[in-house]
Parts: sequence; structure tokens; C-alpha cells
Amino acid sequence: GAAVNRRIVGGPVGRFGFGRRGVDAVRRDRELVLRHFNSVSPENDLKWALVHPRPGADGYAWAPADAFVEFGERHGMSIIGHTLVWHSQTPDWVFRADAPRSNESRQGGGTRATREQLLERMREHIHTVVGRYKGRIKVWDVVNEAISDHGDYVLRDSPWRQIIGPDFVAKAFEYAHEADPDAVLRYNDYGLEGAAKRGKLISLIRTLQADGAPVMAIGTQAHLNVTSASFKSMDQSLSEIEALGLPIHVTELDINGARQGQRTTGADVSSNSAATAGGLVAEADRRLAEAYEGVFQALIEHRESLEVVTFWGANDANSWRSRGRPLLFDADSNPKPAFQKVILTA
Ligand code: XIL
Repeated sequence: GAAVNRRIVGGPVGRFGFGRRGVDAVRRDRELVLRHFNSVSPENDLKWALVHPRPGADGYAWAPADAFVEFGERHGMSIIGHTLVWHSQTPDWVFRADAPRSNESRQGGGTRATREQLLERMREHIHTVVGRYKGRIKVWDVVNEAISDHGDYVLRDSPWRQIIGPDFVAKAFEYAHEADPDAVLRYNDYGLEGAAKRGKLISLIRTLQADGAPVMAIGTQAHLNVTSASFKSMDQSLSEIEALGLPIHVTELDINGARQGQRTTGADVSSNSAATAGGLVAEADRRLAEAYEGVFQALIEHRESLEVVTFWGANDANSWRSRGRPLLFDADSNPKPAFQKVILTA
């Protein structure tokens, strides 16, 4: 079947970034990833700015993305593609009219692409990237973070929406489905623990479904925080998303701990003594473990619809939020109390 990693229990599904930390980070964390994870998702290497930095057929930069896919295949891991259409980490040229040749009017360089130009660029990009890894990358984040955090607008005011219009989302799914009819196509977004944003997700997906767009799974990023109660609303969040009738993938799980210098116990935080620092770490570790336990209790409740859990990083050193020490393994790749909790809960 098309779905990967039906069983998450007993072995969380992992993501591993080759991006800004380079090949050495891959080597260092390789053992950890191979031991505890059965799936990889690239942190940055398949984003438009990295894989397709310049216009034209020779504008692609395949080496890091190819290395990522080969790593996954070599180790028999499920390979996730992240991400095709996003407002961030996308080069400016994508949204501009074609640059004029030097002996033509200079006006063209600054003007925006037309709807037709941008649709064609999006189609070409999706066909090229999805096509290259057809049958190898089984799951794609087709559209990432299209929903607005503000007001009543469902879609964020991105260049994609401004230039193409709201149907850019459906078009992206159509193009991806053309490029690989067997791939599982996800809509992925963050903050779905909050009722307002989740409501917008539900109306967006219902509209896509009514229009026949091939959206096949919902990705909920789950960048959580121990100091907020967001992990407590996970159960409610999953219940409502589940009602869409699509599989749910947790796509970028991490739980930010207390910020550095933030008071986490009654201890004097200004003290530099190793004992105090050790106490704060232990307390932060305990709170993180509790939060992960809460999240996984909710995930287990929804195991019928949950297909994938991806952590946004393997260890704390290799996390985009490393200061918040948000993962199951510390900077030296030692398991934290949160790891034990996840194993016991799941
Ligand atoms: C982040 C990466 O982890 C960083 O390395 C990069 O600098 C910015 O992007 N939502 C997403 C991910 O969908 O692509 C983001 O990844 C984190 C938020």
C-alpha cells in the first residue's frame, strides 16, 4: 500500500536533516538515527531555495537531496519529501516576471510573475522534483503552512495566494499527483493545537476535498512547548482533524523546554554552581518527559488514524530549537527521561 509506517508504536519514525549542519552531523548522528528511527525527512535540502536555487532547467542543485535519498534507501528507511510549495525558503525569482535580457527594458526584472507564469513554474518544479524521486520518496509535503495565523482569512497573504489566487493549493496537489500517482500527498501546517487555526485547516481541507484535489493526509507539525498547555489539547486536536477522514501524520514533533536563564525551580537561577545547573537540567528533563508522555498518550488514543510520527531532529545539538533542548536525546546523543517515557507510553 501507499501508506508508510503504519506502526509507530515501539519505534518512533524519525526525520534527519542533512541541511545546514552538513555531512559531519550526519556521520555523528548516524548511529542514533539508524538505531532508533525507521524513516527520514530532510530538514532543508528539498526546499525550493536549496534544490532549485536558480531559474531554468540547469537551476537545480541535486547533490544534497540525492545524498539524503540514497542514505534513506541504503538503510531501508521510509523517505519523506519536505516540501514543494511554501512561502518561506523560496527564492525571490520564483515570484518575479522573467528577468529582461540586457538590451531590453529593465522594467521587467522588478515586476511580478503573472498567474500563468507562476503556475507554470510551480508545475515545472513539482514535476521535476517529485519526478526525480518517483517511487522512492513515498510521502510528500505538497503545500506547507498556507493557513493564516491572523483574522478570519483562511489562507495566509503569501505571494502564492496573491499571484495565483486561492486555488494554488489545489493546483499544487494536482501537479504532484500527476508527477507520482502513488505518492501520499500531505497538507502540512503548524499550530493546529489551537482551535482557530484548526478550524481554518478543516475548512481548507473540506474545500479541497469538494474540489477533488488529491490531498491524502494531514501533517500536523507539532512544534510544542512545555511552558504552554498546547500538548494538553493534542487529543482534542487529533479528534477534530481525524473527522476529515484522512490519515494524520505528526510531521515535525519537538517540545521546547524552558528557555535558558528562565526560572524552572525555586533554585537561584543566577548562581553558576554546577549543582544548581544540574538541578535545573534535571527539572527541565522531568518536565519535558511529562510533556512527551502527555503527547504520546494522546497519539496512542488516535492510533487508528495516525500513520507517522516524525521528530524534527534526532538529538538536541542537531535541532533548530537546540536552546530549548526539545528532543528525546541530549546533545551527546544520550537518551533523556523523555525517551524512556515515550518508549513506555508507546
Ligand atoms: C526549519 C529548519 O529546521 C531550519 O533549519 C531552517 O533554518 C528553517 O526551517 N516548519 C517547517 C520546517 O515546515 O521546514 C521548518 O524547518 C520548521 C518549521
